[in-house]
Amino acid sequence: MTEPDGAANRADLPGRVALNPVHRDFFAGGAGEERTLRRNEEAFAQRWIVPRVLRGAGARDLRTTLFGTDLTMPVLIAPTAFHRLAHPAGEVGTARAAAAAGTIMVLSMAATQPVEDVAATGAHLWMQVYPQPDEDFQRHVVKRAGAAGCRALVVTVDSPVLGRRERDRRHGFRDLPAGFACENMRDADGRLRDIAMDPALSWEHIDRLRASTGLPILLKGILHPQDARLAVEHGVDGLIVSNHGGRQLDGALATVDALPAVVRAVDNRIPVLLDGGVRRGADVVVALALGATAVLVGRPVIWGLAAGGPGGVRDVLETLRDELDHTLALAGARRPADLSADQVA
Ligand code: FNR
Repeated sequence: MTEPDGAANRADLPGRVALNPVHRDFFAGGAGEERTLRRNEEAFAQRWIVPRVLRGAGARDLRTTLFGTDLTMPVLIAPTAFHRLAHPAGEVGTARAAAAAGTIMVLSMAATQPVEDVAATGAHLWMQVYPQPDEDFQRHVVKRAGAAGCRALVVTVDSPVLGRRERDRRHGFRDLPAGFACENMRDADGRLRDIAMDPALSWEHIDRLRASTGLPILLKGILHPQDARLAVEHGVDGLIVSNHGGRQLDGALATVDALPAVVRAVDNRIPVLLDGGVRRGADVVVALALGATAVLVGRPVIWGLAAGGPGGVRDVLETLRDELDHTLALAGARRPADLSADQVA
């Protein structure tokens, strides 16, 4: 895979040198032969922007609102596991950068710090969960996230079983090292649970979750337009077109290739977001033009964190913001909403 250019890609940076190669492969890797991992980026590289000219667009306005939260730009932080393995500042460090940048961080169920500590940064948080077959326990996790101030739930539905991560298998990397834990997997008595993945889960599980919380629910991992329609019918509030950054089904469709059909199926009823392979402002513009309300970035944030802690994440976000602003100007748009699908070839 290619990694973001710029500061985060310089091999001589202290954070980068310090990243344990086993953990680096955990962050970088995908499932199987990593075809989908590579294809997410390639599919963006094969999209071409058709600029409009002389539209008098003026200064850009990147602001976006999602479920009542105002963001300074339509770029969010995707949920990724184990931030303390990238940098001692961990998820709290990432959240500080999100707060400074004025965007949303989606906190992974596999975070290595408690949601309460992450929320104390003042960042806007959404909580990601893998649907848990023990629904009492799941309600406990959701309630805790809501009490901490999370404003939406992101339910990851592309993981009925764990992807075959061959890099991790080669390294024998399975669990967090001693001294680290998935702090949001504690039950009411403080005991740690394992994250369960259950191939038996179905839409009824989503219905019960829907009935159990007032938080907006987004489903993450939708690629098929029929699943997008079903999600709307089941009262879901938003979708994230995602293949888990190529870490689950190797051979799954690239996300930007899946986006147009999902957008058509949803027909403006709920917001559609996208993640996977977004590396440059031009990628953001392509996704927005094809109908995404916003995008999320996963690995670029991890590399920023590893290279420079909260400041490194901030650099990644500000670089994306600058590139997005610049690309919008060159494409003849003032706001993301000015873009249209006929501007992508
Ligand atoms: C992830 N992703 C992920 N997704 C999720 O729902 N829960 C999780 O705990 C994780 N953990 C995770 C760890 C690591 C190291 C990576 C790289 C990814 C998937 C993530 O949310 C997102 O879908 C992808 O990372 C997006 O692709 P890019 O931006 O990394 O190409």
